[in-house]
Amino acid sequence: MSKYEVKGKNVLITGAASGIGREFSKLFAADGANLVLDDLPAKKEVLAQWAKELAAKYNINTWSFSIDLSTENGPEQLYASAREAAGSIDVLMNDAGTLEYGNFSEIDYARQVFMVKTNALALFKLTWLALQDMKKAGGGRIINMSSCAAFQPTLYHAAYGASKAFVQNLSETVNAELSGTGIKVFAFSPPYTRTPLLKAGNLPEKLRWFAISGLWDPAVIAKQGYKAFKQGKTMFIPGPMNWLMHSVIVRLTPHSLLNMTSKLMMKG
Ligand SMILES: NC(=O)c1ccc[n+]([C@@H]2O[C@H](COP(=O)([O-])OP(=O)(O)OC[C@H]3O[C@@H](n4cnc5c(N)ncnc54)[C@H](OP(=O)(O)O)[C@@H]3O)[C@@H](O)[C@H]2O)c1
Repeated sequence: MSKYEVKGKNVLITGAASGIGREFSKLFAADGANLVLDDLPAKKEVLAQWAKELAAKYNINTWSFSIDLSTENGPEQLYASAREAAGSIDVLMNDAGTLEYGNFSEIDYARQVFMVKTNALALFKLTWLALQDMKKAGGGRIINMSSCAAFQPTLYHAAYGASKAFVQNLSETVNAELSGTGIKVFAFSPPYTRTPLLKAGNLPEKLRWFAISGLWDPAVIAKQGYKAFKQGKTMFIPGPMNWLMHSVIVRLTPHSLLNMTSKLMMKG
């Protein structure tokens, strides 16, 4: 099967100043894609510098924006700005996200709302907006950052898991609806990865679960996800053990047992 060629294509990546999104931007740049990058206003200088570095090193066009995607019109603003800058968007990568660890009723309400708006609603809006143009163009690709947390209840980060279940379900279904259109939606579902997201979200540094899932390096995760994307996969969970756990075992295990195990594995 031929690989998806990104050279000369315009790629919009959200959450590109840090972690997995930043690693993906490097891989796209190295293959000659032009990049429209977004992250929060607090990351404006860091992102602008990163965009400049990529443009110089790989001889590509880059643009950077600092639009908060949790705001009412953030996704619409970003999509319109990206299209105006680059002309068109061939690949959309919805990577921006946050995590909040703790008992649902004890985590600050506003922080959880910010998370759900960023992880789920912004991704939903950007996916819908990009599809309007991709359908007219007769092709395009969307990468939606899901997570291993998408496949079962996730104790102590209930709303995070729920936001990722939304992403996974939406992406798989929309992708199936689009079959034969030249457009694909790829749900990428990594295990825990050592990025600032975990600390910012108060995830304990040691969890029993890490013995099973591993705690991955963002460069390795991005490399595996990028490869799966170029191969045209529409779902991918890195690591055979994680695939077995989240694709097979959780589907065969009663939820009462899953929740008991989760309580033991996810408590810091
Ligand atoms: N790390 C993991 O274990 C893991 C596993 C599976 C899936 N994922 C998913 O992978 C994606 C990337 O996460 P990461 O681990 O690479 O985290 P990261 O290093 O924190 O990168 C995410 C970036 O998105 C930015 N962001 C957050 N809210 C935003 C908003 N409203 N508008 C624009 N940008 C925003 C973050 O800014 P701030 O740093 O200022 O918040 C950060 O720069 C997320 O969707 C995450 O859920 C992560």
